[in-house]
Amino acid sequence: MQKVNWGILGLGKIADKVSVDILLAKQSNIYAVASRSEEKAKAFAEKFNAQKYFSSYEELVHCSDVDVVYVATPHVFHFEHAMMALKHGKHVLCEKPLGMNVKQVEALITEALKQQVFLMEGLWTRFVPATKKMLEWVDAGLIGEIISVKADFGFKAEYNPDGRLFNKNLGGGSLLDIGIYPAYLSLLLLGLPKEIKATARMTDTGVDSYFSALCEYENGAVATLESTTEADTPIEGYIYGTKGFIKMHSRFHHTEKLTLNIYNKSEEIIELPYKGEGYVHEIDEVNDCITGGKVESDLLPITTSKQLANLLDQIRMIINLNY
Ligand SMILES: NC(=O)c1ccc[n+]([C@@H]2O[C@H](COP(=O)([O-])OP(=O)(O)OC[C@H]3O[C@@H](n4cnc5c(N)ncnc54)[C@H](OP(=O)(O)O)[C@@H]3O)[C@@H](O)[C@H]2O)c1
Repeated sequence: MQKVNWGILGLGKIADKVSVDILLAKQSNIYAVASRSEEKAKAFAEKFNAQKYFSSYEELVHCSDVDVVYVATPHVFHFEHAMMALKHGKHVLCEKPLGMNVKQVEALITEALKQQVFLMEGLWTRFVPATKKMLEWVDAGLIGEIISVKADFGFKAEYNPDGRLFNKNLGGGSLLDIGIYPAYLSLLLLGLPKEIKATARMTDTGVDSYFSALCEYENGAVATLESTTEADTPIEGYIYGTKGFIKMHSRFHHTEKLTLNIYNKSEEIIELPYKGEGYVHEIDEVNDCITGGKVESDLLPITTSKQLANLLDQIRMIINLNY
């Protein structure tokens, strides 16, 4: 089987975790890694058996043996780094959020289509077995019509004004970092809302440390979405229907456990383990799409990333969060 050669761009915390899973995935090889620091690149390459390491991101995208670039830098650099890789004809898996706003996402989509290369946002939630099962239950009508979706993502972060989570220049704030998961769940199940009410608490650095949104949809359904870097919250997802509800257990965005409750009738709890750290499934999807000559995933199409950016833009406008 021909292996897909991955290039890792930006060697921080998530790059390390995802690289473990790239090696577990059935068709991948970490060919090259790139950091701003040569020492870091060399150590990372040794750890993951990469053939090459570079002390600049530019060298990585010039490397002819790299098939797909995984962009794992802070949010504000996703556009620049993903665009650079696309322009060099590389397939791209870019960490979430794909861009800081819908304009950036649209520009990336345009470039990917022009180059006829694969582009996907790293929303691993879509690919874990539990999300697939939850969608199967919903599509089979087991909980009836969806009337409400409720999801939260919160953890108590140590306040560091210079760190990625709080520094506005690095795209800090809870909404784009973790609020994106509740937002994505609502989009996956209900599409874009017709109306949004939202509120937020802001840090001294000018980013949101808490956001809450109430969305209303054309069909009358509602969604309640929350995220925070100020408190440990349950990190659960609930999908309430006319006949029953589904609970996506904590941490819902990569859950391994679901409850299906049919009101006044039955309750079933099932375990759906994922492979590795949970990223193997999204990596398999990228490998399958690339080897199959596809420019986007059917499960997470690029239009979904555009809609998600649109939703996040609308919420940001309401809570006055501008980057
Ligand atoms: N899918 C998930 O489960 C998940 C989880 C966590 C984070 N993420 C996403 O992954 C991205 C990175 O998060 P992370 O937690 O890995 O961050 P991190 O540990 O701070 O790593 C980011 C890396 O980006 C590079 N970088 C380039 N310019 C930088 C700058 N000016 N300041 C800081 N770093 C810079 C650095 O790599 P070099 O020094 O090697 O150049 C750094 O190590 C974020 O966009 C986040 O949303 C996704």
